[in-house]
Amino acid sequence: MGGSTALEDVTALVRAELVQVNRLVEEALMPERSELRALLGHVSGFRGKQLRPALCLLVGKALGGLRPAHLKVGAILEMIHSATLIHDDILDGALVRRNLASLHSVYGHEVSVLIGDYIYARAFQMSVELPDTRCSRLLAEITRIVCQGEVTQILHRYDLDMSENLYLEVIGEKTASLYGAAGELGAAYAGGEEGLCSRMRDFGYQLGLAFQIIDDCLDVEGEESIVGKSLGTDFGKGKLTLPFLYFLRSLSAAERAEFDRILREGNPAERQRVLMERFDLSEGLAYAHRAADACLKRALGRLEGLPPSEELEALRTMTDFVLNRRR
Ligand code: IPE
Ligand code: IPE
Ligand code: MG
Ligand code: MG
Ligand code: MG
Repeated sequence: MGGSTALEDVTALVRAELVQVNRLVEEALMPERSELRALLGHVSGFRGKQLRPALCLLVGKALGGLRPAHLKVGAILEMIHSATLIHDDILDGALVRRNLASLHSVYGHEVSVLIGDYIYARAFQMSVELPDTRCSRLLAEITRIVCQGEVTQILHRYDLDMSENLYLEVIGEKTASLYGAAGELGAAYAGGEEGLCSRMRDFGYQLGLAFQIIDDCLDVEGEESIVGKSLGTDFGKGKLTLPFLYFLRSLSAAERAEFDRILREGNPAERQRVLMERFDLSEGLAYAHRAADACLKRALGRLEGLPPSEELEALRTMTDFVLNRRR
């Protein structure tokens, strides 16, 4: 796999639709009260990669064509995702998001928690306006699962014995589930039969697992100015991700005790740097990259036998982007 896949290579075929999705999001975030203008304006100013709507739209196009519902589903997915990021930044104490100050770092926790809820609620309001209940039923469930994953991760902070299996379950819940929903809904609203919907859910799920594994690597080895968000916050908050869990296996009892001390002591924003001055994490990072690659191979397997199209190729390109992304 090459190292230079640009996001634009992935989204080119749905660029016009993503502009419309963004417009729907901006409309949905228009404040009813002028007091909320600055808060919602700040959120609208955030522009992410739009990978979840892109996945939904590409799957829809690959499997029978887009319908108006796809644009709304894309907007709903992006809003749910944006709401989780607002809450996640509070939980992780992250100061930068999408190259801007995080919402809570400007406006505080109280209103930011509520703006996250507000955006979730707005997304669900949009979903019940669709002609059927598939999207709202699925996304209500997925939102619960995302919360379950984030809560489980918090309950296992500082847990040096956390199993790799539990790690995979957590990232499956907090991240891959929404990617899975994006794939499934893309197929469902294109009129795909159930077998195809579940295949595209599996594709999205495996892609999402890899996406989060790479994200967890970027939290260790990424460039803040390229990724556009605060890094080092997982370790700083005692959240042990795959590179650390693998690395821990190779430590002696004395080294583990030292790792544990670094994990708990001093300024949270400095802890990862202190750890990396003491230990070499490169084996753990390489292992995590291999794990992500394995997920992406499984994802690609789910595309086999589908009718050839440019959009199908773009879905393959998406797996390449996810593995090699720097942002
Ligand atoms: C960040 O997701 C949150 C994770 C699940 C790791 P993205 O990297 O897709 O965020 P944006 O939307 O592009 O900012
Ligand atoms: C968050 O994971 C995943 C969510 C579902 C919110 P991270 O905490 O790794 O996301 P970033 O790195 O802050 O974007
Ligand atoms: Mg975070
Ligand atoms: Mg987090
Ligand atoms: Mg992260």
